[in-house]
Amino acid sequence: MTLRSSRIPLVLGNWKMHTALEDACTLADATASIAAAHPEIEVGILPPALWLVSIHKRLGGASAVMLGAQDVAPQPSGAFTGDLSAEMLAPYTRFMLAGHSERRHLHGERDELVRDKLDAAWRVDRVPVLAVGETGEQRASGRATEVVARQLEVALSGRSAAEVETLVIAYEPVWAIGTGIAATPQDAAEMAAVIRAWLRALGPVAPERVRILYGGSVTAANAADIFASPEIDGALVGGASLKAEEFAGIVAAAGGRAT
Ligand code: PGA
Repeated sequence: MTLRSSRIPLVLGNWKMHTALEDACTLADATASIAAAHPEIEVGILPPALWLVSIHKRLGGASAVMLGAQDVAPQPSGAFTGDLSAEMLAPYTRFMLAGHSERRHLHGERDELVRDKLDAAWRVDRVPVLAVGETGEQRASGRATEVVARQLEVALSGRSAAEVETLVIAYEPVWAIGTGIAATPQDAAEMAAVIRAWLRALGPVAPERVRILYGGSVTAANAADIFASPEIDGALVGGASLKAEEFAGIVAAAGGRAT
């Protein structure tokens, strides 16, 4: 399974632990219409896993909006209470998110576990979305690039070009997530460039082929500025993905980036 091409702008809505089933269905329908109006880009939603089967069935295989999982367990099956394997999620999803800061910080997930989650997504031929990002304290002490490089190093060292080029990386500074304070477009673009430089040093990987999203307080109002940099290929959107109009504005801004 491949994406249409490697650097088509991509906007993903991470619904986190929001929505009741009925709201989720309504929002999925609205998002599908938004995606259908912008065939020049790719749009995906990551609903709560419990709703994936219903939404998948409702939207049908031809929907313009792709589905993703907010998290994935590394193991294919076994005694792992509460977890969902890549094999379970694969029939309903195209993307599998790993390393979101809420998993890293609230669930104590370490870089090594994030690496194993990427393996799980690749095992079932799905697209892993690797989230990386520094805390406010790490940025204030000048360690932002070092922290992101370490997250990349553990997750990606030793990977083949074929693997890395099917990956999506989401740069999400922890201090920008859910705070209403997005990184400046310059800071986001600079970190994306740092990530591509890091990928280049990895060896055989063509960093020009890897999509890098920005995430953290993206809104319809700031999206166009963020997407103005050619380094940024789209967004991982939390809060604003729950409001169809806001999300539509972000998708339209990414569509402007595509043309
Ligand atoms: P936010 O969340 O857009 O609400 O800041 C982004 C994310 O957590 O992916």
